[in-house]
Amino acid sequence: LAEADRHRPRFHFVSPAGWLNDPNGLTQWQGTYHLFYQYNPTSALHHRIHWGHATSTDLVTWTDRPVALVPGDDGPDRDGCWSGVLVDDDGTPTILYSGRHGDRELPCVATGSADLDTWTKDPGNPVIDGYPEGLELTAYRDHCVWRENGRWRQLVGSGIAGRGGTALLYDSDDLRTWRFVGPLLTGDATRGTVEGGDWTGTMWECVDLFRPPLAEGADGGTGHAVTDPVDVLVFSAWDEGVTHHPLYWTGRYRGDSFEPSALHRLDYGGRYFYAPQSFRDSAGRRIVFGWLQEGRTDEAMVAAGWSGVMSLPRLVTLGPDGLLVQAPVPEVASLRAEEERHAAQELTADPLSLGSGDQRDLEVSLVLDPGTAIELALATTPDGTETTVLQVIRADRGEGGTITLDRSRSSLDPSVDASPRSGSVPVGDDGAVSLRVLVDHSALEVFANGRALTARTYPTSADARRASLRLVAGSARLVRATSWTMRDTWPGPRPLYP
Ligand code: FRU
Repeated sequence: LAEADRHRPRFHFVSPAGWLNDPNGLTQWQGTYHLFYQYNPTSALHHRIHWGHATSTDLVTWTDRPVALVPGDDGPDRDGCWSGVLVDDDGTPTILYSGRHGDRELPCVATGSADLDTWTKDPGNPVIDGYPEGLELTAYRDHCVWRENGRWRQLVGSGIAGRGGTALLYDSDDLRTWRFVGPLLTGDATRGTVEGGDWTGTMWECVDLFRPPLAEGADGGTGHAVTDPVDVLVFSAWDEGVTHHPLYWTGRYRGDSFEPSALHRLDYGGRYFYAPQSFRDSAGRRIVFGWLQEGRTDEAMVAAGWSGVMSLPRLVTLGPDGLLVQAPVPEVASLRAEEERHAAQELTADPLSLGSGDQRDLEVSLVLDPGTAIELALATTPDGTETTVLQVIRADRGEGGTITLDRSRSSLDPSVDASPRSGSVPVGDDGAVSLRVLVDHSALEVFANGRALTARTYPTSADARRASLRLVAGSARLVRATSWTMRDTWPGPRPLYP
């Protein structure tokens, strides 16, 4: 690993070296948080996937544990231990994952030691040894497993030829013998657009079903309170070589079916926040992690010696408008070091400096008049040749706004992805917009009134470190801006696993 790797995040979880993709097996086990992840320890490319493992007591500082699952020399997972979950089987930690063999993935089980370090694969693997009859499936992998009325239920991500992505529902008494119930919900192969990021794809990866807790204020005094329970089915819309992006349905889980009410984008970064998985911690919080994949070439990843970043843990709640609200867990604030504050003022076209550094946490609270646009410039060089620009616009009539991330000048390196990202943001009558922006070298996570936009940027200059805010059109008042430097959670590049 390069000693001074400018693009390697310092307060996001990254693998010791090699390739990282999906978060897996998220759990809080006897007080300790466990993060497993799709991992190739031998190179920075996606190949022969293992399960890496790390633990934490605060969700922000992590300790590497030994690799949890290694593909077999032969057998159902000889080509990889793909994504899955960890459940508590009456005190026995149990992983369900997709064993890959040739081009097939089938569900496998492994049980863990009390510290979750050592895993024993079930001799009966795969526990489901073929696809359900009578459906022309395009793919079959990834698992969501929960306990319901004394039985286990499982969703497997899949797609039905000509019909679209789907989540297949199973049930079981013992996690080993599964009965196919049927497709819980099937998308529409033709719905939406790839560009809009709302196409449900031909296959649903990493399906995740849960009931989000209500956001603060969502159930009181807002005039449009959420009264009926809302369930959420998150999935990663996939189509070979065409798209990867995370979506969710809101609706109602009815036992053997899911009645959808609406489809939403989970993160406007699309593939930069992919394959999310969530869990409920002992405080009852719904926490999600996602995979921030790279926007650079395979050659650049191999040269760096690593690939893939885990998102910060996000708290997910249901907002008053019935959509998910996302925010980094409060524990992230424990990494804040030096603070810089800006008092209330009118924004002007003159950029207001918000500090400088590769590791920052910014909180900006604004009031925008209708028809106002502001720009937050990030990772900017003194001469402005490299800069990443986040634009926030409040529509000139009605409610609502948009955020757009312009990466066209983020890097002078022409080989990195520079495509823009954007999405809508709820803005109420008062025009209030609250921005939270986390910059960690190449990782960027933006939250605007609870909507998330995640991306990667790779400036070539070591001086691309400044942040500033300015008015572009209309009029805007800065209520408060606070900027912190963020401490390292990693002492430096870690050695490869022995
Ligand atoms: C999503 C995914 C999963 C699969 C895993 C393989 O990124 O493709 O569907 O289980 O990654 O590493």
